[in-house]
Amino acid sequence: MQKLIKGMVLAGGSGNRLFPLSSVVSKQLQPVYDKPMIYYPIATLMSAGVRDIQLITTPHDLPMFEHLLGSGSQWGLNLSYKVQHAPRGIAEALIIGKKFIDDSPVALILGDNIFHGELKLTEELAAFRNGAVIWGYPVDDPERYGVVEIDDHGAVLGIEEKPKYPRTNLAVPGLYIYDHTAFERAAALTPSARGELEVTDLNRSYLSDKQLKVIQLDRGVTWLDSGTHESLLDSSRFISTIEKRQGLKIACLEEIAYQLQYVDEEGLRSAIARMPDSPYRTYCESALPE
Ligand code: G1P
Repeated sequence: MQKLIKGMVLAGGSGNRLFPLSSVVSKQLQPVYDKPMIYYPIATLMSAGVRDIQLITTPHDLPMFEHLLGSGSQWGLNLSYKVQHAPRGIAEALIIGKKFIDDSPVALILGDNIFHGELKLTEELAAFRNGAVIWGYPVDDPERYGVVEIDDHGAVLGIEEKPKYPRTNLAVPGLYIYDHTAFERAAALTPSARGELEVTDLNRSYLSDKQLKVIQLDRGVTWLDSGTHESLLDSSRFISTIEKRQGLKIACLEEIAYQLQYVDEEGLRSAIARMPDSPYRTYCESALPE
């Protein structure tokens, strides 16, 4: 039987681009409209059936994440925490999380990446056997991201980190699926010019073994990263527009947990009982059966 996929959320990094916002509160705890940013990537993983999740953050921010998220049992999750002592890159998460990952496949998501729409992550995880899976998303400013080049059949030709002259407009979002070889591959990387173990180099390692699959996201999916003031504001506007229009919340972890039966009615009721009077509480109450 296939091993259960583990989840990792990386909420490290310096968040320098959000200074002075980020000098007190971690980037991934900043508000995206009505929730802390970290709720969104957690929702992405849990919606795809990933319930055993390790969060990696800085020593300074760890107590705040623990305070906010706890053990995850209120959402039927098993949340654990690890520290990244310095911003040494996304690929270092695979090294830090070695014990947690063990020899399972892992879905790694960056704490500032927000997805909305039909990602089909559940199907992708169910079909995953080995190698690595990344996504490609058309953007207007690919030079800010990892950029992937593919041929007419969707096979990966190359992948570059923040190229000055991108060969395509396909950015690589901060969501990756890796097999159990990710640790060894990450451990064999050398730091880039910015002193980081680059996730793009990890992906290249899979590519050189012809083990890298890219899935092209279509325009029905929205991918936002919230690492700059402008993109943070855009994300808030986006979430608020949809939530107000539909009267439904995006990434309400209590609602997702209840809908997916990670918690029963009793579990939802006790999570609600711990919330102060607030529009969020009222919304969660509306998810309860009549
Ligand atoms: C990182 C990755 C990059 C990826 C991006 C997605 O960039 O290095 O390949 O496209 O996340 O958000 P960073 O946030 O380190 O600038």
